[in-house]
Amino acid sequence: MPNAYISGTGFHVPPRVVTNEDLRSQYGIDTTHEWILQRTGIESRRFADEGVGSADLALPASEAAIANAGLRKEDLDMIIFATLSPEHCFPGSGVYLQHKLGLCDGPDAKFVPALDVRNQCSGFLYGLATATSMVKSGASRHVLVVGAETHSAALDLTTRGRNVASLFGDGAGAVVVSATDEDRGVRAWRLGADGRFADTLSQRVWDIKKRPFITQDANGVGQVSPEMMWARMDGKLVFKNAVERMMRVLMEVCLAESISGQDIDLFVFHQANLRINQYLQQHLGIPDDKVVHNIQRYGNTTAATIPILLAEAVESGKLRRGMKVACVAFGSGFTWGAALIDW
Ligand SMILES: CC(C)(COP(=O)(O)OP(=O)(O)OC[C@H]1O[C@@H](n2cnc3c(N)ncnc32)[C@H](O)[C@@H]1OP(=O)(O)O)[C@@H](O)C(=O)NCCC(=O)NCCS
Repeated sequence: MPNAYISGTGFHVPPRVVTNEDLRSQYGIDTTHEWILQRTGIESRRFADEGVGSADLALPASEAAIANAGLRKEDLDMIIFATLSPEHCFPGSGVYLQHKLGLCDGPDAKFVPALDVRNQCSGFLYGLATATSMVKSGASRHVLVVGAETHSAALDLTTRGRNVASLFGDGAGAVVVSATDEDRGVRAWRLGADGRFADTLSQRVWDIKKRPFITQDANGVGQVSPEMMWARMDGKLVFKNAVERMMRVLMEVCLAESISGQDIDLFVFHQANLRINQYLQQHLGIPDDKVVHNIQRYGNTTAATIPILLAEAVESGKLRRGMKVACVAFGSGFTWGAALIDW
């Protein structure tokens, strides 16, 4: 059975920087830089321009990951796309990315499977676990795993929506998971979910149990009320569960490999709130130089946080061959996951 390792990483964020002060001055939200910074650690985020979707953000991230893996796009055997902000209800973003990569064109067209993952902030780790299993089983040699989000289009950027709108930003990160006979790669992963909290952090938009599933006016134009249109969140409940679940799943994955936290060289935590991660870090006694963050610059980019962090850490030289890496995520669902990787 081959090992599954991350052969290449890449990321892309849209150029437009939106600071906490911009949320106040440009969007008219009743907030302050201090409020957001103090509670979340966020200083700015990136917003994509109109006309840009999640597959557009994913394209340069994927191209970089494929190039950094020393591969051509035709070498891919599968695409796994994790997002909670797909272009449309269906199909998912995976097929749009496949087309944009040019995999469907020309005499060498390669109609690889494109799987969409709907596990929000844990989506990348659900995708990584799936890719690892595909590679280890021998079904695939190179799987592209992407996390990409265009949150800015679907945030209630008014005072009414400030508790959610101030947290999220746009971006994309990608990795290629490849087969190898070398003694390295994804050593263990654990995933979990607790559907009792499905509505605690959710964006419903419609209710498929209703007829029609979106209310229509006399002309057949759909009308969505603000409670359905925008995400809702019980922030305190999310915070409490995030801390507990991230801690527990990290321990589970360490136990699976019979290692302790001290054996880990780099912790790559999902970027929901800097305070959540600082709590984990403090509680587990992790020194600052073993943790990477980017929430200060990008906000919460949901499925993209971990692959962006990996790509940035590789680019800066912070993440090098031979290091032991722990990735941990928690999010809507609730869902969570952890992976241990020998880089
Ligand atoms: C969102 C979060 C920062 C809010 O912090 P909090 O201390 O729990 O604040 P609350 O939601 O209780 O709100 C306190 C007050 O601040 C207000 N507030 C919310 N967002 C605000 C903002 N951006 N600016 C100013 N005030 C804000 C609220 O309206 C509320 O006002 P009220 O007391 O007059 O009703 C925090 O709960 C959190 O980060 N939770 C985790 C969220 C998360 O990680 N989500 C993603 C999961 S993947």
